[in-house]
Amino acid sequence: MSFSVGILGTGRAVPDQVLTNADLEKRVDTTDEWITSRTGIRERRIAPNDMAASDLGALAGRRALESANLSAEDIDLIIVATITGDMPFPATACIIQDKIGAKNAAAFDLSAGCSGFVYALDVAKNMVLGGSKRVLVIGVDLLSRVTDYSDRATCVLFGDGAGAAIVGAVADGYGIIATDIGADGAGAEFLKLPAGGSRRPVTDRTIENREHYLCMAGNEVFKFAVRIMGDSTHRVLAKARLTSEDIRWFIPHQANIRIIKSAATRLGISDDRLFINVERYGNTSAASIPLALDEIVESRTLNDGDYLLVVGFGAGLTWGAAIIRWGGIIG
Ligand code: UT7
Repeated sequence: MSFSVGILGTGRAVPDQVLTNADLEKRVDTTDEWITSRTGIRERRIAPNDMAASDLGALAGRRALESANLSAEDIDLIIVATITGDMPFPATACIIQDKIGAKNAAAFDLSAGCSGFVYALDVAKNMVLGGSKRVLVIGVDLLSRVTDYSDRATCVLFGDGAGAAIVGAVADGYGIIATDIGADGAGAEFLKLPAGGSRRPVTDRTIENREHYLCMAGNEVFKFAVRIMGDSTHRVLAKARLTSEDIRWFIPHQANIRIIKSAATRLGISDDRLFINVERYGNTSAASIPLALDEIVESRTLNDGDYLLVVGFGAGLTWGAAIIRWGGIIG
């Protein structure tokens, strides 16, 4: 029997604690007006000290299983897209496998920054085509853990969250019908966590220099983002033989409202088809797209056969876009 590969269920999880622009005004030299007008962000969620990526990721994963009416034992692979795993190793996917009781699943992490979820969707699709039955894909990041809250240029941007999707067989013609993933490693310097790896292990000196915090050339990432969101969207539409008119929901990585709006204008995407929640969560990295996807699913504005286009960019520098034809659930 021929089949396609699509999404069988989605879930999300965010911490309860809210960090507002007013809270940040008390910590660094910034204003609500600057943050809102330059980024569109009003608040973000921050995980409590005892919560790690696996806790939030497991919660989102369980919710995705529930929405797909599946049990953890039905999963044969877990892919966790993250750059803020519980520890450098073992993989957070293994910790989540144990937490949710997915004892039949292989498990690994994938590092592609904010593009991680789209990369993982593409890998999951190909794993299902290669014989896996059901893949749990989780995008989770706790960027608050690597954010320098004395650096106003970055600390206003990021928040914590998790989103998940179950990937498996759907009826022919539905599902993930086209993808476009890529990287430009020449831009690796523009967004990085300098210390803590084999290049620069953490020492008193790296801590003194605050190299255990995320560091970003915001303008460079901004320029890349605007260009690549447009280019990757065009490529994935061409692969799917669709135009932007065919897309019901355009779901961009939620990093900055100016990046989103400028890409949407270039692509001719009207506001009623453009999903934005950056004002409530800030940039949640690999969680941003699956969080948005789950909110759309919950809003019940999706019909069987609707086309969704997700597109993201991030550390690497990387990018990823996918077009999903919603529905086609078998059985
Ligand atoms: O998921 C991928 C991760 N990264 C991104 O998506 C980030 C992409 N980049 C951006 O979103 C934007 O570049 C930022 C929001 C980070 C910065 O916005 P910008 O419009 O590019 O501002 P800028 O960096 O050019 O800074 C303009 C001014 C500077 O002051 P001077 O040098 O002109 O006097 C900054 O010092 O704004 C200042 N500034 C701030 N002022 C108040 C930077 N951060 C703040 C702040 N509050 N929080």
